[in-house]
Amino acid sequence: MRVDRRWCILRSLLNGVVPTFNYLMSNSTATASAAANIALVKYWGKASIGNNQPATGSVSLGLEDLRTTTTLEYATGNQDTFDTELDDKARKRALSFLDRVRLNHQITQRLHMTTANNFPTGTGLASSASGFAALSLAFNALFNLKLAGSDLSRMARLGSGSAARSVYGGVVELIPSDDAYAIPIATAEEWPLDVIVAVTEERPKAIGSTEAMIQTANTSPFYRSWLSSHADDMTSAKQAITEKDFGKLADTSEHNCLKMHATMITSEPPIIYWQPATVEIMHEVRALRSSGTPAFFTIDAGAQVKIVCLPSATDTIRQQLKAITGLKRVIVTRLGGSPSVTTS
Ligand code: PMV
Repeated sequence: MRVDRRWCILRSLLNGVVPTFNYLMSNSTATASAAANIALVKYWGKASIGNNQPATGSVSLGLEDLRTTTTLEYATGNQDTFDTELDDKARKRALSFLDRVRLNHQITQRLHMTTANNFPTGTGLASSASGFAALSLAFNALFNLKLAGSDLSRMARLGSGSAARSVYGGVVELIPSDDAYAIPIATAEEWPLDVIVAVTEERPKAIGSTEAMIQTANTSPFYRSWLSSHADDMTSAKQAITEKDFGKLADTSEHNCLKMHATMITSEPPIIYWQPATVEIMHEVRALRSSGTPAFFTIDAGAQVKIVCLPSATDTIRQQLKAITGLKRVIVTRLGGSPSVTTS
């Protein structure tokens, strides 16, 4: 960490004297793959909006097979360019993120970006998490910044709060502070789990998470209780992970998820992400758990239900889900999601 800071100071000094110093040290292309993650104890609410400082801590699982792959190389002109069809909002977010991280690292080079998700975008499947994590990893590699994990996590957080967790795989904790970053707390190998993503809505969500968080914080009578009861959920989830206590993790995660949605539903105007199939699946998962199947649900800012289970239960759950009307499709993945980076 100390070495990295010195390196940054030296880099910025040299950059003033020799403007091309960054480019001499950098690679010509960098490709990064980062996975989406789902929070079991959620980040919902911002302590500072511009910097995506979370008002709460969070604990997440990396989803091995839901990934964004992003390549960065130098743009030929004096503008950032994209190889990929991005809607206006996504393009603006990517551009303002690039401007910000370039400024932080005294880099002026314009970039050409190619990016693809292997899962639906903007529907509550954490595409912003994998997207900004992959972009941060590629940026770090292209310019050979050699950032420590905590600083990469901080960089990704500037794009989206949950992206701070996607720079690692496995079980990850996001620690709130005035410059919040995430740390890995368990590997996928320590506790193999499966996640079944039940897609109940393929269309993009009506309201994005930042806007929804602000509306909730400003208008829900339950937002204060959400904040004040959050630390107990964090303690309980981390304990359950250390002890591999599936029942405790199930109870804590469902409770935390429903509290988060309660603040949304009670905001003005209300934010209701659920579809009828979302609710049906919640009932189904609870019934399965009551009859001994190790499974629980969680839902983020969208209609999709993520079912976390022991791998021995995956097939049974998939079979049960077939009866749900309104279920569009399922994606099954294991816990994992370590990022990968290549340069040339
Ligand atoms: O990082 P954002 O702005 O997409 O917000 C993520 C919010 C939730 O997915 C609902 C919760 C979480 O911790 O990921």
